[in-house]
Amino acid sequence: MISFLSKSPFLHRNILSVKQFTRSELHVLFGVAQEMRTIVERQGGIQLLQGRVMCSAFFEPSTRTSGSFEAAMVRLGGSVVKVDSSTSSVVKGETLSDTVRTLGCYGDVLVVRHPSPGSAEIAAKYTKIPVINAGDGIGEHPTQAFLDVFTIREELGTVNGLTITIVGDLKNGRTVHSLVKLLCNYDVTLNYVSPDNLKMPEEVKAEVAKCSSIRQTEYPTIESVIESTDVLYVTRIQKERFTNLEEYESTLGTYIVTNSIMTKAKPHMIVMHPLPRVNEIAVEVDFDQRAAYFRQMRYGLYVRMALLALVVGHDVKM
Ligand code: NCD
Repeated sequence: MISFLSKSPFLHRNILSVKQFTRSELHVLFGVAQEMRTIVERQGGIQLLQGRVMCSAFFEPSTRTSGSFEAAMVRLGGSVVKVDSSTSSVVKGETLSDTVRTLGCYGDVLVVRHPSPGSAEIAAKYTKIPVINAGDGIGEHPTQAFLDVFTIREELGTVNGLTITIVGDLKNGRTVHSLVKLLCNYDVTLNYVSPDNLKMPEEVKAEVAKCSSIRQTEYPTIESVIESTDVLYVTRIQKERFTNLEEYESTLGTYIVTNSIMTKAKPHMIVMHPLPRVNEIAVEVDFDQRAAYFRQMRYGLYVRMALLALVVGHDVKM
Protein backbone atom coordinates (compact mmCIF):
# COMPACT_ATOMS: atom_id res chain seq x y z
CA MET A 1 0.00 0.00 0.00
CA ILE A 2 2.66 2.52 1.04
CA SER A 3 4.79 1.69 -1.98
CA PHE A 4 1.85 2.36 -4.28
CA LEU A 5 0.97 5.61 -2.59
CA SER A 6 4.52 6.92 -2.34
CA LYS A 7 4.82 7.10 -6.11
CA SER A 8 1.25 8.09 -6.83
CA PRO A 9 0.85 9.28 -10.42
CA PHE A 10 -2.36 10.99 -9.29
CA LEU A 11 -0.86 13.06 -6.49
CA HIS A 12 -2.45 16.53 -6.27
CA ARG A 13 -3.74 16.19 -9.83
CA ASN A 14 -7.14 17.33 -11.03
CA ILE A 15 -9.30 14.45 -12.30
CA LEU A 16 -11.26 16.14 -15.09
CA SER A 17 -11.28 13.74 -18.05
CA VAL A 18 -10.35 10.11 -18.62
CA LYS A 19 -8.08 11.30 -21.43
CA GLN A 20 -5.53 12.54 -18.89
CA PHE A 21 -4.49 9.04 -17.84
CA THR A 22 -2.32 6.30 -19.31
CA ARG A 23 -2.85 2.59 -19.03
CA SER A 24 -0.05 2.21 -16.52
CA GLU A 25 -1.57 4.92 -14.33
CA LEU A 26 -4.90 3.10 -14.47
CA HIS A 27 -3.15 -0.07 -13.33
CA VAL A 28 -1.88 1.75 -10.26
CA LEU A 29 -5.43 2.91 -9.51
CA PHE A 30 -6.89 -0.57 -9.97
CA GLY A 31 -4.13 -2.15 -7.87
CA VAL A 32 -4.86 0.21 -4.98
CA ALA A 33 -8.62 -0.33 -5.45
CA GLN A 34 -8.06 -4.07 -5.05
CA GLU A 35 -6.15 -3.41 -1.84
CA MET A 36 -8.99 -1.19 -0.66
CA ARG A 37 -11.41 -4.03 -1.32
CA THR A 38 -9.40 -6.34 0.92
CA ILE A 39 -9.09 -3.70 3.62
CA VAL A 40 -12.82 -2.90 3.61
CA GLU A 41 -13.76 -6.57 3.68
CA ARG A 42 -11.32 -7.30 6.56
CA GLN A 43 -11.54 -4.23 8.75
CA GLY A 44 -13.97 -1.70 7.26
CA GLY A 45 -11.39 0.99 6.52
CA ILE A 46 -7.91 2.42 7.05
CA GLN A 47 -6.69 5.65 8.64
CA LEU A 48 -4.82 6.97 5.61
CA LEU A 49 -6.41 10.41 5.36
CA GLN A 50 -6.94 11.24 9.01
CA GLY A 51 -7.20 15.01 9.44
CA ARG A 52 -7.89 15.57 5.74
CA VAL A 53 -11.13 17.08 4.46
CA MET A 54 -12.97 16.38 1.22
CA CYS A 55 -15.36 19.12 0.13
CA SER A 56 -18.11 18.26 -2.29
CA ALA A 57 -20.35 20.56 -4.29
CA PHE A 58 -23.21 18.89 -6.14
CA PHE A 59 -25.28 21.17 -8.35
CA GLU A 60 -27.20 18.21 -9.81
CA PRO A 61 -28.87 15.29 -8.00
CA SER A 62 -26.74 12.31 -6.96
CA THR A 63 -27.09 9.22 -4.80
CA ARG A 64 -24.20 6.90 -5.70
CA THR A 65 -21.48 9.35 -6.69
CA SER A 66 -21.93 11.64 -3.69
CA GLY A 67 -22.66 8.74 -1.32
CA SER A 68 -19.69 6.63 -2.39
CA PHE A 69 -17.25 9.56 -2.36
CA GLU A 70 -18.39 10.42 1.16
CA ALA A 71 -18.25 6.81 2.35
CA ALA A 72 -14.81 6.46 0.72
CA MET A 73 -13.42 9.51 2.53
CA VAL A 74 -14.85 8.40 5.87
CA ARG A 75 -13.49 4.85 5.46
CA LEU A 76 -10.05 6.43 4.85
CA GLY A 77 -10.33 8.26 8.17
CA GLY A 78 -11.01 11.68 6.64
CA SER A 79 -13.99 14.01 6.89
CA VAL A 80 -16.46 15.52 4.46
CA VAL A 81 -17.97 18.98 4.03
CA LYS A 82 -20.87 19.09 1.57
CA VAL A 83 -22.74 21.87 -0.14
CA ASP A 84 -25.56 21.61 -2.65
CA SER A 85 -27.36 24.01 -4.91
CA SER A 86 -30.59 24.13 -2.91
CA THR A 87 -29.18 25.08 0.50
CA SER A 88 -25.94 26.94 -0.30
CA SER A 89 -25.37 30.57 -1.32
CA VAL A 90 -25.93 29.42 -4.92
CA VAL A 91 -29.59 30.18 -4.06
CA LYS A 92 -28.53 33.80 -3.44
CA GLY A 93 -26.87 33.96 -6.85
CA GLU A 94 -23.29 33.02 -5.94
CA THR A 95 -21.24 31.83 -8.93
CA LEU A 96 -19.48 28.49 -9.36
CA SER A 97 -16.09 30.23 -9.23
CA ASP A 98 -16.82 31.90 -5.87
CA THR A 99 -18.22 28.64 -4.46
CA VAL A 100 -15.04 26.86 -5.55
CA ARG A 101 -12.78 29.60 -4.12
CA THR A 102 -14.61 29.19 -0.80
CA LEU A 103 -14.39 25.41 -0.58
CA GLY A 104 -10.76 25.59 -1.69
CA CYS A 105 -10.07 27.40 1.61
CA TYR A 106 -11.55 24.57 3.66
CA GLY A 107 -10.69 21.26 2.03
CA ASP A 108 -7.81 19.19 0.66
CA VAL A 109 -9.76 17.98 -2.38
CA LEU A 110 -12.95 19.16 -4.07
CA VAL A 111 -15.50 16.92 -5.79
CA VAL A 112 -17.79 18.85 -8.18
CA ARG A 113 -20.91 17.94 -10.13
CA HIS A 114 -22.45 20.64 -12.31
CA PRO A 115 -24.86 20.77 -15.29
CA SER A 116 -22.49 22.58 -17.73
CA PRO A 117 -19.96 20.63 -19.79
CA GLY A 118 -16.46 21.96 -19.02
CA SER A 119 -17.50 23.21 -15.55
CA ALA A 120 -15.03 21.00 -13.66
CA GLU A 121 -12.18 22.34 -15.77
CA ILE A 122 -13.32 25.90 -15.04
CA ALA A 123 -13.66 25.08 -11.32
CA ALA A 124 -10.05 23.85 -11.28
CA LYS A 125 -8.86 27.31 -12.33
CA TYR A 126 -10.23 28.87 -9.14
CA THR A 127 -8.54 26.73 -6.52
CA LYS A 128 -5.17 25.19 -5.79
CA ILE A 129 -6.64 22.03 -4.29
CA PRO A 130 -7.29 19.14 -6.72
CA VAL A 131 -10.72 19.09 -8.33
CA ILE A 132 -12.45 15.80 -9.15
CA ASN A 133 -15.10 15.92 -11.87
CA ALA A 134 -18.17 14.04 -10.62
CA GLY A 135 -20.12 14.77 -13.83
CA ASP A 136 -20.14 17.96 -15.92
CA GLY A 137 -23.49 17.94 -17.70
CA ILE A 138 -23.34 15.72 -20.78
CA GLY A 139 -19.53 16.04 -20.81
CA GLU A 140 -17.65 13.47 -18.76
CA HIS A 141 -17.88 11.39 -15.61
CA PRO A 142 -14.33 10.05 -15.31
CA THR A 143 -14.60 8.36 -11.91
CA GLN A 144 -17.63 6.39 -13.11
CA ALA A 145 -15.59 5.16 -16.09
CA PHE A 146 -12.76 4.12 -13.74
CA LEU A 147 -15.16 2.08 -11.65
CA ASP A 148 -16.82 0.65 -14.76
CA VAL A 149 -13.52 -0.66 -16.11
CA PHE A 150 -12.58 -1.92 -12.63
CA THR A 151 -15.92 -3.77 -12.52
CA ILE A 152 -15.20 -5.46 -15.87
CA ARG A 153 -11.74 -6.51 -14.66
CA GLU A 154 -13.00 -7.88 -11.37
CA GLU A 155 -15.97 -9.69 -12.92
CA LEU A 156 -14.42 -11.04 -16.12
CA GLY A 157 -10.69 -11.02 -15.30
CA THR A 158 -9.67 -8.91 -18.29
CA VAL A 159 -10.88 -6.15 -20.60
CA ASN A 160 -8.90 -7.02 -23.73
CA GLY A 161 -10.71 -9.04 -26.36
CA LEU A 162 -14.20 -8.29 -25.03
CA THR A 163 -17.30 -7.19 -26.94
CA ILE A 164 -19.01 -4.39 -25.04
CA THR A 165 -22.54 -3.39 -26.06
CA ILE A 166 -23.68 0.02 -24.87
CA VAL A 167 -27.42 0.66 -24.87
CA GLY A 168 -29.65 3.69 -24.33
CA ASP A 169 -29.08 7.44 -24.37
CA LEU A 170 -25.65 7.58 -25.94
CA LYS A 171 -26.10 11.22 -26.93
CA ASN A 172 -26.56 12.65 -23.45
CA GLY A 173 -25.01 9.99 -21.22
CA ARG A 174 -21.77 11.34 -19.78
CA THR A 175 -20.88 7.97 -18.27
CA VAL A 176 -20.67 6.36 -21.71
CA HIS A 177 -18.76 9.31 -23.17
CA SER A 178 -16.08 8.75 -20.54
CA LEU A 179 -16.25 4.96 -20.74
CA VAL A 180 -15.62 4.62 -24.48
CA LYS A 181 -12.71 7.08 -24.32
CA LEU A 182 -11.22 5.16 -21.39
CA LEU A 183 -11.61 1.90 -23.31
CA CYS A 184 -9.16 3.32 -25.88
CA ASN A 185 -6.53 1.90 -23.54
CA TYR A 186 -7.73 -1.61 -24.39
CA ASP A 187 -8.43 -3.85 -27.35
CA VAL A 188 -12.24 -4.08 -27.49
CA THR A 189 -15.20 -4.25 -29.86
CA LEU A 190 -17.87 -1.63 -29.13
CA ASN A 191 -21.51 -2.01 -30.21
CA TYR A 192 -23.75 1.04 -29.86
CA VAL A 193 -27.53 0.46 -29.57
CA SER A 194 -29.68 3.59 -29.29
CA PRO A 195 -32.74 5.31 -30.72
CA ASP A 196 -31.89 7.35 -33.83
CA ASN A 197 -32.16 10.67 -31.99
CA LEU A 198 -29.86 9.54 -29.16
CA LYS A 199 -26.81 8.21 -31.01
CA MET A 200 -23.24 8.48 -29.77
CA PRO A 201 -22.05 12.02 -30.68
CA GLU A 202 -19.85 12.25 -33.79
CA GLU A 203 -17.02 13.95 -31.85
CA VAL A 204 -16.90 11.10 -29.32
CA LYS A 205 -16.89 8.50 -32.10
CA ALA A 206 -14.17 10.42 -33.93
CA GLU A 207 -12.05 10.46 -30.80
CA VAL A 208 -12.50 6.71 -30.29
CA ALA A 209 -11.79 6.09 -34.00
CA LYS A 210 -8.26 7.42 -33.41
CA CYS A 211 -7.56 4.39 -31.20
CA SER A 212 -6.41 1.58 -33.44
CA SER A 213 -7.37 -1.13 -30.93
CA ILE A 214 -11.12 -0.36 -31.03
CA ARG A 215 -13.87 -1.27 -33.46
CA GLN A 216 -17.19 0.62 -33.09
CA THR A 217 -20.45 -0.22 -34.88
CA GLU A 218 -24.04 1.01 -34.46
CA TYR A 219 -26.97 -1.44 -34.26
CA PRO A 220 -30.73 -0.89 -34.07
CA THR A 221 -31.59 -3.58 -31.50
CA ILE A 222 -30.10 -5.41 -28.53
CA GLU A 223 -31.19 -8.71 -30.11
CA SER A 224 -28.89 -8.17 -33.10
CA VAL A 225 -25.77 -8.27 -30.89
CA ILE A 226 -26.73 -10.04 -27.65
CA GLU A 227 -25.23 -13.41 -28.57
CA SER A 228 -21.70 -12.07 -29.04
CA THR A 229 -21.80 -9.60 -26.14
CA ASP A 230 -19.57 -9.99 -23.06
CA VAL A 231 -20.63 -6.77 -21.30
CA LEU A 232 -24.09 -5.27 -21.75
CA TYR A 233 -23.83 -1.67 -20.48
CA VAL A 234 -27.33 -0.20 -20.13
CA THR A 235 -28.07 3.49 -19.56
CA ARG A 236 -31.05 5.66 -18.63
CA ILE A 237 -32.69 8.03 -21.10
CA GLN A 238 -31.47 11.34 -19.61
CA LYS A 239 -34.81 13.09 -19.08
CA GLU A 240 -33.24 16.26 -17.66
CA ARG A 241 -31.37 16.91 -20.93
CA PHE A 242 -34.53 17.04 -23.08
CA THR A 243 -36.17 20.35 -23.93
CA ASN A 244 -39.15 18.53 -25.42
CA LEU A 245 -40.90 16.16 -22.99
CA GLU A 246 -42.79 14.41 -25.81
CA GLU A 247 -39.49 13.47 -27.44
CA TYR A 248 -38.34 12.00 -24.10
CA GLU A 249 -41.56 10.04 -23.65
CA SER A 250 -41.42 8.66 -27.18
CA THR A 251 -37.98 7.12 -26.56
CA LEU A 252 -38.65 5.84 -23.04
CA GLY A 253 -39.13 2.09 -23.17
CA THR A 254 -37.47 1.59 -26.59
CA TYR A 255 -34.94 -0.79 -25.02
CA ILE A 256 -35.79 -2.89 -22.01
CA VAL A 257 -33.55 -5.74 -20.87
CA THR A 258 -35.75 -8.66 -19.79
CA ASN A 259 -35.26 -12.31 -18.83
CA SER A 260 -36.28 -13.23 -22.34
CA ILE A 261 -33.34 -11.25 -23.77
CA MET A 262 -31.04 -12.75 -21.12
CA THR A 263 -31.83 -16.29 -22.36
CA LYS A 264 -29.99 -15.41 -25.61
CA ALA A 265 -26.91 -14.03 -23.82
CA LYS A 266 -23.62 -15.81 -23.01
CA PRO A 267 -23.58 -17.60 -19.63
CA HIS A 268 -20.77 -15.29 -18.48
CA MET A 269 -22.03 -12.02 -19.91
CA ILE A 270 -22.44 -9.27 -17.32
CA VAL A 271 -25.10 -6.56 -17.27
CA MET A 272 -23.87 -3.18 -16.04
CA HIS A 273 -25.68 0.12 -15.43
CA PRO A 274 -24.33 3.29 -13.80
CA LEU A 275 -27.78 3.66 -12.15
CA PRO A 276 -30.29 5.12 -11.49
CA ARG A 277 -32.46 2.93 -13.70
CA VAL A 278 -35.94 3.93 -14.70
CA ASN A 279 -37.41 1.03 -16.67
CA GLU A 280 -34.56 -0.03 -18.97
CA ILE A 281 -33.74 -3.17 -16.96
CA ALA A 282 -36.74 -5.20 -15.79
CA VAL A 283 -36.63 -5.97 -12.06
CA GLU A 284 -36.80 -9.72 -12.87
CA VAL A 285 -33.22 -9.46 -14.24
CA ASP A 286 -31.93 -8.46 -10.77
CA PHE A 287 -32.11 -12.11 -9.74
CA ASP A 288 -29.89 -13.29 -12.61
CA GLN A 289 -26.26 -13.79 -11.46
CA ARG A 290 -25.17 -11.93 -14.58
CA ALA A 291 -26.76 -8.73 -13.25
CA ALA A 292 -23.61 -6.93 -12.08
CA TYR A 293 -25.05 -3.45 -11.53
CA PHE A 294 -25.43 -3.71 -7.77
CA ARG A 295 -21.93 -5.17 -7.40
CA GLN A 296 -20.74 -2.31 -9.63
CA MET A 297 -21.83 0.17 -6.91
CA ARG A 298 -19.63 -1.62 -4.39
CA TYR A 299 -16.64 -1.53 -6.77
CA GLY A 300 -17.26 2.22 -6.95
CA LEU A 301 -16.52 2.54 -3.25
CA TYR A 302 -13.13 0.80 -3.63
CA VAL A 303 -12.16 2.83 -6.70
CA ARG A 304 -13.08 6.13 -5.06
CA MET A 305 -11.16 5.17 -1.89
CA ALA A 306 -8.15 4.42 -4.09
CA LEU A 307 -8.50 7.64 -6.02
CA LEU A 308 -8.80 9.82 -2.91
CA ALA A 309 -5.81 8.09 -1.31
CA LEU A 310 -3.75 8.58 -4.47
CA VAL A 311 -4.80 12.20 -5.06
CA VAL A 312 -4.66 13.46 -1.48
CA GLY A 313 -2.54 11.26 0.67
CA HIS A 314 0.77 9.86 -0.48
CA ASP A 315 2.70 11.14 2.54
CA VAL A 316 0.40 9.76 5.21
CA LYS A 317 2.09 6.94 7.14
CA MET A 318 0.18 3.82 8.12
C1 NCD B 1 -25.04 8.68 -13.79
C2 NCD B 1 -24.81 10.16 -13.90
O1 NCD B 1 -25.11 10.93 -12.98
O2 NCD B 1 -24.29 10.54 -14.94
N1 NCD B 1 -25.22 8.23 -12.49
C3 NCD B 1 -24.12 8.02 -11.71
O3 NCD B 1 -23.29 8.87 -11.51
N2 NCD B 1 -23.98 6.80 -11.17
C4 NCD B 1 -26.02 8.13 -14.76
C5 NCD B 1 -27.39 8.73 -14.85
O4 NCD B 1 -27.74 9.68 -14.17
O5 NCD B 1 -28.17 8.19 -15.65
